[in-house]
Amino acid sequence: MDAAAHPLVASRPTGPLSGRITVPGDKSISHRALMFGALAVGETRITGLLEGEDVLRTAAAMRALGAEVAHEADVSGHGGIWRVAGRGVGGLTEPTDVLDMGNSGTAARLLCGILASHDLFAVMTGDASLRGRPMRRVIDPLSACGARFTARDGGRLPLAVQGARDALPLEYRVPVPSAQVKSAVLLCGLNAPGITRVEEPEATRDHSENMLRHFGASVQVTLAGAGRIIELHGQPELVAADVVVPGDPSSAAFPLVAALLVPGSRLTITGVGLNPLRTGLLATLAEMGADIQIENRRVEGGEPVGDLVATHGTLKAITVPPERAPSMIDEYPILAVAAASAEGTTRMCGLKELRVKESDRLSATAAMLTANGVRVEIEGDDLIVHGIPGRIQGGATVTTHMDHRLAMSALVFGLAANAPIAVDDAAFIDTSFPGFTALMDGIGARLTPA
Ligand code: S3P
Repeated sequence: MDAAAHPLVASRPTGPLSGRITVPGDKSISHRALMFGALAVGETRITGLLEGEDVLRTAAAMRALGAEVAHEADVSGHGGIWRVAGRGVGGLTEPTDVLDMGNSGTAARLLCGILASHDLFAVMTGDASLRGRPMRRVIDPLSACGARFTARDGGRLPLAVQGARDALPLEYRVPVPSAQVKSAVLLCGLNAPGITRVEEPEATRDHSENMLRHFGASVQVTLAGAGRIIELHGQPELVAADVVVPGDPSSAAFPLVAALLVPGSRLTITGVGLNPLRTGLLATLAEMGADIQIENRRVEGGEPVGDLVATHGTLKAITVPPERAPSMIDEYPILAVAAASAEGTTRMCGLKELRVKESDRLSATAAMLTANGVRVEIEGDDLIVHGIPGRIQGGATVTTHMDHRLAMSALVFGLAANAPIAVDDAAFIDTSFPGFTALMDGIGARLTPA
């Protein structure tokens, strides 16, 4: 990551947004493909991997733990191919240096799961944003396998872990809806004998479960009310498998909402992942009256995929129920931008987990809107946005707090405001969406260095 801040400004475009675009690969699936590939026997071939900073940290960590990770440059125009020669379950080796996970909570927490059941010593750190995020949520359950973690006050990075020699299988009820915590426990359970059992009170993205099966592990999922119970048979032989990474729906959200907000726009985004545990934003925007068609539905690499066609139109405010949060947890900042341009008052309920993302996204999202003339309230864990379609004042510089999604949300916001909106630092966009500025420029948006 470039150490220098990279301010950027977005202004209302002179015409509609249009085109046919593809967004980079899914971040969640990309991390997991590298990790499971490193734990499998044989060579895993990954196409469409997100080559963003976060995922590159995972690739570097897997190398540091003894897997071979190679990248073949892009010759097809569809992203390069990544090859991972795995070490087999339990076969990773002690890293000789500190593992730096950069800005990535997913990389850090999932890696804790892997390290906990490997008999090795490792130290992990990250950037200032990641060093401020809670790791106790994985340290506590993982310690029960016999691993010993030492972390900074409040369970923050840097942390050191001495993994268990003979890890015990875990049985854990995840107290907060978190796919990262669920996945960390499952990854730990891979190198423990017997059954590792995770119960989640609300269903969260199931990419780990899907990929474990894809690599040959035995995973049973039982529905339990709104949640699920996942049982993994430990110490399987994971067999290398090809992975096709779909476009990230969380990245598609930015050009998608931009097209909904800029008059006259019509935009097609091809090959977007449509895992039902990730599509809460599409359901919400449909309820708000957005014209989004899904074409060419198909299954690629075991995940549902489709092309999204978004057409500009008026949006109306709705109440977003708390139970939808896990399926759109990363999409609230951009939904808040859409809500600011909707008729009426939108209430987004149950956003507690937003406080522990790359930034405190609940207050940072509210601050982004307020600074640009939109009335907003936070009531408990709910965010309330009073929409003023066509009358967003703009003109402010948004503080992005090292948070890629805030930066992209603020820039889309600027496309719908009367005066340009700037971000203090767009550099972090590269963690999840390399090429964002060029892609937005290509569809007719106006993003310029501030
Ligand atoms: C992710 C899970 C979510 C999400 C993050 C990616 C994953 O985090 O916000 O961007 O890949 O498992 P939580 O598990 O903390 O909700």
